[in-house]
Amino acid sequence: MQRYYVTTPIYYVNDKPHLGHAYTTIAADVLARWHRLNGADTWFLTGVDEHGQKVLEAAGKKGISPQAHVDAMVQPYKDLWARLDIRYDDFIRTTEPRHKAVVQAALLKLKEQGDLYEDVYEGWYSTAAERFWTEKDLVDGKCPDTGQPVQWVQETNWFFRMSRYGERLREWIEAHPDFLQPASRKNEVLGYLRKDLGDLCISRPAARMSWGIPFPWDESFVTYVWFDALLNYVSAVGFSPQGENGPDFARRWPAQHHLLGKDILTTHAVYFSTMLFALGLEPAEHLYAHGWWTVEGEKMSKTIGNVVDPHLLVDEYGADVVRYFVLREIPFGNDGDFSHKGLLERTNADLANDLGNLLHRASSMTGKWLGGRIGALDAPTPADLELQGLADRAVAGFARELEAAQFHKALESLWELVRAGNKYIDTEQPWALNREGKTERLGGVLTRCLEIIRVAATLLQPVMPTKARELAAQLSLNADPLLALGCASLDHLVAGTVLPEPAPVFPRLLELPPRIQEALAKAQAPTPPPPPPSPSLPVPEPPVDETTPAAPALIGIDDFGKIQLLTGRIVAAERHPSADRLLVLQVELGEDKPRQIVAGIAARYEPQNLVGQQVVVVANLKPVKLRGIESHGMLLAAGGKDVRGLVTVGEPLPPGTLVR
Ligand code: MSP
Repeated sequence: MQRYYVTTPIYYVNDKPHLGHAYTTIAADVLARWHRLNGADTWFLTGVDEHGQKVLEAAGKKGISPQAHVDAMVQPYKDLWARLDIRYDDFIRTTEPRHKAVVQAALLKLKEQGDLYEDVYEGWYSTAAERFWTEKDLVDGKCPDTGQPVQWVQETNWFFRMSRYGERLREWIEAHPDFLQPASRKNEVLGYLRKDLGDLCISRPAARMSWGIPFPWDESFVTYVWFDALLNYVSAVGFSPQGENGPDFARRWPAQHHLLGKDILTTHAVYFSTMLFALGLEPAEHLYAHGWWTVEGEKMSKTIGNVVDPHLLVDEYGADVVRYFVLREIPFGNDGDFSHKGLLERTNADLANDLGNLLHRASSMTGKWLGGRIGALDAPTPADLELQGLADRAVAGFARELEAAQFHKALESLWELVRAGNKYIDTEQPWALNREGKTERLGGVLTRCLEIIRVAATLLQPVMPTKARELAAQLSLNADPLLALGCASLDHLVAGTVLPEPAPVFPRLLELPPRIQEALAKAQAPTPPPPPPSPSLPVPEPPVDETTPAAPALIGIDDFGKIQLLTGRIVAAERHPSADRLLVLQVELGEDKPRQIVAGIAARYEPQNLVGQQVVVVANLKPVKLRGIESHGMLLAAGGKDVRGLVTVGEPLPPGTLVR
């Protein structure tokens, strides 16, 4: 049986969790869910790093004991993971006895085998970075990592003979080309190893910093927080340096993936690997160092951090959208910027327009023309076979890229299929099939589209667990979990199954939620401009509020009679050259040539998906110029400002038929 063990860094509990913590934990959760779904013996470990100076200082500021502080800080992490739908198998705290015992046993083993020695140490010590620096490391006399002041410290300490294992590590890296990822990071570590690899100071005199695991043979020392913390990956799965390993250890170790931020690659790649060699263990298969997020173009700080407070994001967008966005937006390994406008645009384009639209089209046409029952597949045409080929490639690509932690590529691979589904509708023209009474083909075409939704619902389970269930429910598939591999074949749905009433799974976001706008204003970040008011909205305004429209004045039938409503068929559609929200349509109205109509529906519809649609047109509106392009009429649509759907006519009618 395939096994899969994935870890996140354990987070310092000096403060509440932020977007950076959420990012790694989401990525690990997606990998764990994916492997679980495919039947691997999976283990996902996360936790918190509770010792060290930073935590001690945070407790001091609150005027409480470090133990009371760490006890209080665990819950915020667990709460956030619950809200983000993180399903870990184990959560380790470094103050737990199961961990302390392993750290102490490791120290004893290393001492016994001559890997530890005592020496006087002098150097510049940075409290913020919790490490010593040499004179030449300093930048303007300050800590190069944190920019904080350093102090000259002279003290006796215990050292780990890291230098003994440097050569072995170099060889290991050369022999395991996938050990350090992304590949660009490998040279960084090899560069570090090319310098003379010194020994590692792994104690702190308790008199100076008491908040740590005491040395087993001398309580006047506590363990250096990194030596303590890194061992969590093995202590949590039952490693016992001196005795018998726990029953699961051989099953879990070596781990497949340690995910971490780029700033802590050296500690993992160099300190931890050499520690493992000394303890008789091999390192994990892959260390994946991801990049850092900036927020609205700024380095993450307390102030700007508030605009991406993970709780706020979950409140306003929902966990699934946050999970999707952070993994889709930037390649795992690169730095990237989190902007709310970026989130809005990406989720509208990918989720509402591509995937949501495909679901909407396939299920509503099935509802209208097939009595809401899934149609039977007909004999495949070349176009159908091509679609199947695409589905095979999309699923294989998704699996391959996801397993390599290339989340953005995995999702892109699936989206190629989703977009192909929308194109397939355009070319197969189910409305024409319906009009011409080709019911068998109509059933086959719509079912293949529903099959694509099923593939998406299956593959998206690890990324968007709730939305995936909602998508599946729209297909009357309520079995959980769906199998991920082997889902590519577009013939799983059972003909005759009744579909539920279509419901939107991915509503469009018209504008940034008010709480986000407030947070942005507070952080004095430039607020994204509201969507430009468009005179071309297909529905007259007001009313704007779709749930409780303001009661309009009553009109007589004569007034209504002044409006000429006609059926029309869209024969061409393209984007307006200078307005994002507008499409320029050519609509056949039974006149000598098609009418040009400019409509504010670009956020909801891709132009190519509109061709062939039968719509309702206000035909006697005075022509207007919209951003320089003439419009001779208006389409009817539901949803006010947030266009939810064009008004269409179920029966095929000649263009220009009067609507009353
Ligand atoms: N306690 C150590 C890790 C020990 S692992 C054995 C630690 N903790 S931390 O809480 O300071 O940071 C944890 C993680 O958050 C790191 O992987 C770091 O890269 C990540 N991030 C901190 N700020 C970040 C961003 N702005 N963006 C993305 N990740 C960031 O280090």
